[in-house]
Amino acid sequence: MTMRTVYVNGNYLPENEATISIFDRGFLMADGVYEVTSVLDGKLIDFAGHAKRLERSLKELDMPHPAELPDLLVIHRELVRVNGIVEGLVYLQITRGAPGDRDFAFPDPETTAPTVVLFTQNKPGLIDSPAARIGIKVISVDDLRWARRDIKTVQLLYPSMGKMIAKAAGVDDAWMVEDGHVTEGTSNNAYIVQGSTIITRHLGNEILHGITRAAVLRFAREAQMTVEERSFTIAEAQAADEAFITSASAFVMPVVEVDGQAVGTGSPGPVAARLREIYLEESRKAAV
Ligand code: PDD
Repeated sequence: MTMRTVYVNGNYLPENEATISIFDRGFLMADGVYEVTSVLDGKLIDFAGHAKRLERSLKELDMPHPAELPDLLVIHRELVRVNGIVEGLVYLQITRGAPGDRDFAFPDPETTAPTVVLFTQNKPGLIDSPAARIGIKVISVDDLRWARRDIKTVQLLYPSMGKMIAKAAGVDDAWMVEDGHVTEGTSNNAYIVQGSTIITRHLGNEILHGITRAAVLRFAREAQMTVEERSFTIAEAQAADEAFITSASAFVMPVVEVDGQAVGTGSPGPVAARLREIYLEESRKAAV
């Protein structure tokens, strides 16, 4: 793989020259937030949505916003350009910086600047993925994450463990369950379809407010589909006509098996396929 150009605290550097401090609070405390924005046709999908959620995550953690919005867009675009990304993603992470010691208390933002890192990932075939054609299989795991999942923090240990549990079980991903109801996938929002009704968990602190979720629900309503925002159980998912997930990197991805049981026909269904098509078409039109 060729060497990428990445961005660290104001500088564009070859990836092997980019460094951050060992005292960075992102490293020591997972005191950081992130965003993943997909790139299609060399353009950013729903950048405004991701920028808005980033602002919210920073605010909820009392972290100062390090750069004005147009600057972040400029950095995103520059990285896409210099790395020649046609299909892929831009990863952005902002941490509370490196105060020069380990301390639980937040450092003074006047003296400790946030750390800003961005890099690209090239993913040719993101749209035309085999998983989108055949669907993915999921298992359920207990949701053992902290209670502020609406903030997009870099504390991803439990979601990583969830993916490993899924892998060990020979499936693709895990849906997390709390109090008998599905919260979300390890890195995506979860949906079922009953008849012509699309059901996905209501917003709250229990799930990440997916940018793809917001767009897909808007397109579904515009296409006169019925949307119910409520929690559902694994048994409901197994008895549903269809299931699917959404995320910035998976778009709309059908789920064909839940805990060993086929969902609907066991093949990707028409509602997920239509939503994927609408989502890709509309968001590519609006890409920047
Ligand atoms: N994950 N829920 C969780 C727990 C997530 O980590 C993500 C995104 C989503 C979907 O959000 P969005 O539609 O805004 O991507 C829901 C990203 C893609 C990741 O961690 O790689």
